Amino acid sequence: MKIAVTGASGQLGSYLLDELSRKNEVVGLDIRPTQYAAHKAMVQRADVRKPKTVTSWLKDVDAVIHCAAQVSVENSIKDPMGDLDTNLRGTLCMLEACKEMGVRRMVYISTAAVYGDPIKVPIDESHPKRPKSFYGASKASAEDYVRVFSETKGLEHMIIRPFNFYSHRADPANPYSGVITRFVNMAVAGKPLTVEGDGEQTRDFLHATDVSAMVIKAAFSNVKNETLNCGSGKGTSINQLAEAVVRVSPKKVKIVHIAPRLGDIRHSVAEVSKAKELLDFAPQVSLDEGMASMF
Ligand code: UD1
Repeated sequence: MKIAVTGASGQLGSYLLDELSRKNEVVGLDIRPTQYAAHKAMVQRADVRKPKTVTSWLKDVDAVIHCAAQVSVENSIKDPMGDLDTNLRGTLCMLEACKEMGVRRMVYISTAAVYGDPIKVPIDESHPKRPKSFYGASKASAEDYVRVFSETKGLEHMIIRPFNFYSHRADPANPYSGVITRFVNMAVAGKPLTVEGDGEQTRDFLHATDVSAMVIKAAFSNVKNETLNCGSGKGTSINQLAEAVVRVSPKKVKIVHIAPRLGDIRHSVAEVSKAKELLDFAPQVSLDEGMASMF
C-alpha cells in the first residue's frame, strides 16, 4: 500500500512513519521539516491549507492519515480564525485533494476534546459532542465534514479520537505540552511538580506508539465509516501521575498544589470496547513503562 501522512513531522506523525515505512511506501507531508534523519527522504514540504502544494504528492496513494492540525487548546482561544483555517478548512482541502487524486480512504485524527465536560464516564463514542474550546469545536466540525464528504462523495473514512497521549517525542519547549511532558521536565530540572487544583481530576493516558498502532489498524482495516475512541480505558488522577513521576525520577522532587486551571475538564476516560471489537486494538504500553521511557 501507499500511505500519505499529514503532520508527518509531529509526535504522532513521526511514529506513524517509523511503523508504516517498514512495509509500505510512505509520503509524509508537513509545513515543518522533520527532526528525524530517518524520515528526511520521506517528508515533503506541503501545507494542507494550500491544495496545490499537496495534490501531486497523493498520486497512487491508497489512504491518507490526516494528523496535521493546530493542536493547542490555549492557542485556539487566542486565535480562533487560525485554528479554524488549519483544522477545518485544511481538512476540507485534504478531502477534496483525496477525491481529486482517487485516494480510497481517509483516517481523520480527531480528539477527545470534542466531548467537552462529559455527562458520564467512561465516555463512549455516542456521547454528545459539546467542546469547550475552539480547538475542540474545529475538530468536531471537521469530523462532520469528513463524514458528510464521505456520504456524499464516496470517500471511505475512519475517525479516531485519541485521549491524552504522550511520549518523549513531544516537544518539551512547547509551552502547551501535556502534563506528563511537563512533569518530566520539572523532575529533570529538580523542580517541584505543580499539580493544578486538588489533583483528583482524571485523564486517560496512553503512549503515542499505541495511538500510532491503532491508527494503522484503522488505515488497513475493512471496517469503514466508523468513529472510535483511542484510549486505555483507565482513569489516572493527576495526583497519582505526580506520585508515579516522583517514583521514577532520578532526582528527588516534591509535589506542590497550585490554583486549578480555568475551564479544566474534571474527568476524561475513554470507553474502549468499540476499538477492541472493530479493530482488535488494546494498548501495549503501561503507564509505568511509558513513564520510565520518558527519563
Ligand atoms: C489534553 C490535550 C488536548 C486534547 C485533550 C483531549 C495536551 C497539552 N492537551 O488536554 O490537546 O484535546 O487532552 O481531551 O495534551 N496539569 C497539572 N499540572 C501541569 C499541567 C497540567 O496539574 O503542570 C493538569 C491540568 O490542570 C489538567 C491535567 O493536568 O487537569 C491534564 O492537562 P493537559 O495535559 O494540559 O491536558 P488536557 O487539558 O487534558
